[in-house]
Amino acid sequence: MRAGVHLVSEPEIRVVEDPAAEVAAALVDAAEAGGHIVLTGGSSPRRAYELAAERDSDWSRATAWFGDERCVPPGHADSNYSMAEAALLARLAERPEVMRMHGELGHEAGAAAYEADIRERLGAEPRWDLLLLGLGPDGHTASLFPGKPEIEERSRLVVGVPLAGMEPQVPRITLTLPALESARSTIVLATGDAKAETVARAFGPSPDTSLPAAQVRPRYGTLTVLLDEAAASKL
Ligand code: 6PG
Repeated sequence: MRAGVHLVSEPEIRVVEDPAAEVAAALVDAAEAGGHIVLTGGSSPRRAYELAAERDSDWSRATAWFGDERCVPPGHADSNYSMAEAALLARLAERPEVMRMHGELGHEAGAAAYEADIRERLGAEPRWDLLLLGLGPDGHTASLFPGKPEIEERSRLVVGVPLAGMEPQVPRITLTLPALESARSTIVLATGDAKAETVARAFGPSPDTSLPAAQVRPRYGTLTVLLDEAAASKL
């Protein structure tokens, strides 16, 4: 690659037997290398987090960030941080530095605080080493929902989402497209029949670019869509 030329990545679709195991391996590799890792919420990554926690690995030089958060207190059942804490972070012998989004501050103050944290630590173009994303049934990713204004944001790295596009209907804090597009390695994880239609719309031969998940195109790294056979069945 010539200096100064940015390669915009097209997604590589990988259909594997056990996507959670692959995500766990990627997490452990990034953690042991002391990487900046962005965790995702939702239910899909839980098993990957649990598998990663079972590996005897050293996370002490790594930093765990979050792609989005629901505006609830950190111990709440809907908190993405709580899920990651229970499935992964609290189980590690060598804990990483954890940079959580403060959902309890509300969507605006919480987003501003996280933006400041990122800029202070990583600058205006945070080169995450590994960024995990989920895929919602409506094509949302992180908390960027179709048809909502947050998907248009190009200056800020983090925004508040006053109206979530789906359950749980609480305001959110989310990384924006510019922040989601600067990782060295991005993995979108989707499993199960229920995701098949959306996977095909977002990552099929003619992606529906109204879907936020179809708009993530890393500027400096790779984009892997990791699927099981059920999720890939309509591609
Ligand atoms: C959230 C998420 C969201 C999630 C998808 C998929 O906070 O809701 O980060 O983007 O990844 O909704 O969720 P499931 O894994 O539960 O299907």
